[in-house]
Amino acid sequence: MTTLLSRADAEELRRSWDVRQGPFLPHRDEAFAVLADAALGRRALDLAGGTGAIASRLPNAEVTLLDVDPVLLVIARAALGDRVAVVAADLSAPGWGAGLEFDAVVAGTALHCFAPDRLRALYGEIHAVLAPGGVFANADRMPVDAERAPESNDGMPGWHEWWAKALAHPALAEAARDRVDGKSADFYPPASWHVEALRAAGFDNVEVRWRRDDTAVVVARRTR
Ligand SMILES: C[S@@+](CC[C@H](N)C(=O)[O-])C[C@H]1O[C@@H](n2cnc3c(N)ncnc32)[C@H](O)[C@@H]1O
Repeated sequence: MTTLLSRADAEELRRSWDVRQGPFLPHRDEAFAVLADAALGRRALDLAGGTGAIASRLPNAEVTLLDVDPVLLVIARAALGDRVAVVAADLSAPGWGAGLEFDAVVAGTALHCFAPDRLRALYGEIHAVLAPGGVFANADRMPVDAERAPESNDGMPGWHEWWAKALAHPALAEAARDRVDGKSADFYPPASWHVEALRAAGFDNVEVRWRRDDTAVVVARRTR
């Protein structure tokens, strides 16, 4: 018999995930508040949404959370309930956006996983899933000084312990078996790289909407 993940356990895993992500994206709460403000519109997509830190901040939208990790998807489903549609998809190849349309796409602490060529292509695919007038917003480390590019989050305190605890949970055993531990590209270009790549992908009104130290939010609009 399949053991279901209780909402309380999912919330606890989500809360402890947020605690561990905090040092990895300094000023995370402020950056995600900027993302939520930018994500105006009825239909919003939380791209590579993990356990739902951003999706949970979009109470007035029809939210879809997309991620590749089966364990994180189970936690997100149990923690967020029916309000959020949780879908499995792999952003490392084109095709994930077929048939999808949104008014807003947001990504937080996620797009550094992709190497430059893939991220350029992904920006085009994000443009394609936005309705005209739709907005894309990305919060991540975008170092002012390239020398300060962050280390991989593999070395982050508590990270391995979080995964060990999650993977040992009986309700996550089945999802854990399907998990492929993908390698992040750890690509942290400056904000100007994102601005240029988004313009090249067809976006207009591209701007660095917010910055604090090396954490920044870039916002772009599909006008056509
Ligand atoms: C550092 S986590 C951030 C998650 C969430 N946005 C947050 O801030 O808590 C990076 C996320 O990217 C997802 N991810 C990495 N590669 C992916 C891929 N190829 N397709 C979809 N999601 C991916 C991971 O599963 C993970 O949930």
